[in-house]
Parts: sequence; structure tokens; C-alpha cells
Amino acid sequence: MTFSSLDDLKKHLVAARQWSAFPRQGNQARLPRMLGKGDCCPVGLARIPLWSLSDFRLMKKVGEGALSEVFQAMHIPSRTTVAVKLYTKASLTHFTRRQIEREIELQSRLRHPHIVQLYGAFEDHNSIVLVEEYASMGNLLRHISRIGSLSEAHIVQNVMQPVLQALLYLHEQGIIHRDLKPENLLLAGGILKLADFGTAINTRQERAVSRVGTLDQMAPEVLECPDRSDPQLHKGRIDLAYNTSADVWALGVLTHELLTGKAPFAQLTQQQTIEAILSGVIATVPLGISEAAQDFLSACLQRNPSTRPSVTHLLDHSWIQGQHGESRALLLLKSLSQASLASSVERHSSEESETIVCSLLASPEREEASSASPVKSKIVRAGKYMHDRLCSHESRTLSDPLLRDQQPCDAPKHS
Ligand SMILES: Nc1ncnc2c1ncn2[C@@H]1O[C@H](COP(=O)(O)OP(=O)(O)OP(=O)(O)O)[C@@H](O)[C@H]1O
Ligand SMILES: [Mg+2]
Repeated sequence: MTFSSLDDLKKHLVAARQWSAFPRQGNQARLPRMLGKGDCCPVGLARIPLWSLSDFRLMKKVGEGALSEVFQAMHIPSRTTVAVKLYTKASLTHFTRRQIEREIELQSRLRHPHIVQLYGAFEDHNSIVLVEEYASMGNLLRHISRIGSLSEAHIVQNVMQPVLQALLYLHEQGIIHRDLKPENLLLAGGILKLADFGTAINTRQERAVSRVGTLDQMAPEVLECPDRSDPQLHKGRIDLAYNTSADVWALGVLTHELLTGKAPFAQLTQQQTIEAILSGVIATVPLGISEAAQDFLSACLQRNPSTRPSVTHLLDHSWIQGQHGESRALLLLKSLSQASLASSVERHSSEESETIVCSLLASPEREEASSASPVKSKIVRAGKYMHDRLCSHESRTLSDPLLRDQQPCDAPKHS
């Protein structure tokens, strides 16, 4: 091979190093060919040395991403149900191929009960195909939209604990997932599993210096990095390097979303969202959640990455350990006499008052307390009072069946 200039030679060396696992079309490798097999590939699949797309019956499409389509599929020779993630080669750049190479390398080595297993990967002329464990109940986002909101206890036990276990396993190996969000949390037989290692990086092998992931979940230090148009660009920039605490931030965003249904920094435009993330000021501070959940959230969403707790510390957090405490709304209510409650409402903006009313009306304590309980009647009376104030201010009505049966309560006297 001859090179017309030193630049030409450099380009060749960079390309050779980056894409050695994926020879470009027309290159010598015979296709299809295996790109790797995972450690816990089912026996029926493992004993077949070379996989090809014709061995799989694609049954239904279960998802798609920016570059891939995901199918529930059957491996016909072994009758194994799997998920097939298909990347169409024609739509890939050198850079995205490198990303997929990293996804395969990384995910095939992972073995954890809360991480989706990659059984193996192969390529043919048209596609790069990842064959994974199939998560029959789909992703967490779809699950929540089907069943509605989740209680704190449910969130802790069925989402936070598994996710923290999976992150602990990754972080101990220096791996940052970089795209923790409900769409990448899958449910297999009711067990939560972390999926999509398309943007994961092993910081023991390379520096994390690019802006990668999904905007709403992105930590400020990730957002401050340049966009990654070239994987090798900025690799020398020690000042940009971020670490596993970027996942801890995303965990805070996830927690907020699960508790309130909203991402904490999401705004109408991308630019506003970026500004909100960089300011570190949460758009809606959830009031109706327990003190422990509130503390967990603010620990994860520290603007400065070095002050965020590690996943090991978070596993010991009182919220994760099940000591939820009472909701802030209830604590507020208990600590206030009806009179001081009124002056407190006076001080709040109507938006904040609305949040308090909603928290009170939705508070689990209200459901749990017997109808005769003084706590319940206090909650309902306070809710009714604030509700009336809001309606008189803004001619709006908040619907709540419990309130309909209540006699109008006297406006509490100011102290
Ligand atoms: N193993 C699996 N079992 C069942 N469903 C899956 C599986 N893997 C992915 N999916 C479904 O496909 C969707 C997209 O998968 P994945 O996130 O891996 O693709 P992606 O191309 O990386 O997406 P994005 O670019 O949006 O991050 C998931 O949200 C999920 O609903
Ligand atoms: Mg995804």
C-alpha cells in the first residue's frame, strides 16, 4: 500500500485502529460473520458457530431507536425466544459503527441479574445484528403509562434497588451507562433490567469527554462537553473528563420522573432545558413526596459532580432502605395550626398552593386514615380551604370526589 502524504498515512492508521472489528464492504472478510458471543448465551444458540438472520423469525417489532429497530424473534434451530436489535449498515457512519462495536464489546462481558444479557452479535452484508435476552414486558415508560403512577415503596423496591445494583456492578468496573432513562429500563418476567449500552463507556479504557445521552437526563458536566462528531476528538482534554457520577445525576432525574411524572429540568425548548440543567434549579420541586425521597433526589441532583454520593452510598440511603418517613405535605400540615396554615397559604404563590392542595388530596395518609380520623378530616379541611382560595383567585376548580361531600369549611382565622 502506498500513501501520497503523511496525512494520508495518519488517516489510514486511525481508520484501521477504529474499525478493525468491522471490515468495510468489499473487504476480505466473509459475511455473515460473528462479532462476538456473550458469556451466558443459551446452549441452543451457543452451539451454532455461525449465526445468520435467516435463522431468526422476526415476530414483532418491539421498539426502535435513532439507528436501530428491535424485534421479538425466535431462533428457529433452537426455538429460543430472543430480542434482535438490527442496525442497517447503509445508515451508519464510521463513528456510529465504532459506537456499535463498543456496545457489543461492553455488553457481551456483562453478567448481572439486572442487566439485559447480550447473547451475541453478527453482521451480514446489510445489517449488524445484536441478539439479546428478550424482556417480554417492554420498557418502564410503557409500563407506567399502562398502570399509572407508582407508590414510593413500589418505586424503591422494584425500580431503584435493581437499578442501583446494576449501576454498582457497572461503576465498580469503571463503566458509565450514560443513557439511564425509563425507555432503557426493561421488564423481563417482572424483573427490572438495564438495557441499551449504545452510549456506555469504560473509563478505564478511554476518557469520557463527549456530550452523549438524552438531553433531559444529561448531567451539567456532560452538557458542558463538546458534541462528539469524531470519537477521537478531545480525548486529550483531561479537564473535560467526567465519571460515573454522571449516572447518579441521571438517577436523580429518573427518580423525579417516577415520583412526579415529569423530568425535573424539562422545558418547552431545548435551549431552555439546557439553561435549566446548567443552573441546577429544579423546575418543579415535588412536595407530596416523603422527606427521605426528597433527600435522595437532592443528593443525586447536586450541580457539582464531586458532591454527589456514589451508588454504594445511595444503596445505604434511608429511602432505599425503606424508611420513607411522612410526606412533606403531611408534615407541613401537622406542624401548622389551621390559622397558621392560612397565613402560610397567603405567602405561597397560587401555583405552589395548587401543588400543596394536590399533594394533600393525593396523600396516601388520607386514603389510609379512617373516615373518622382527625388527621383525615384535617387534610380534607385544609385541602378544601386551599382549593376554595385558589378557585376564588383564579376561577378554577380542582376536581376531587372527597371534597364534593364536604360542608364548606370556615376560612381559618389569621393568628
Ligand atoms: N432485549 C429487549 N427486549 C425487549 N424489548 C427491547 C429489548 N431491547 C430493546 N427493546 C425495546 O426497544 C427499544 C429501543 O431499544 P434500545 O434502547 O436498545 O435502542 P436504541 O437504538 O439504542 O435506542 P435509542 O437510540 O433511542 O437509545 C427499548 O426502549 C425497548 O422498548
Ligand atoms: Mg435506548
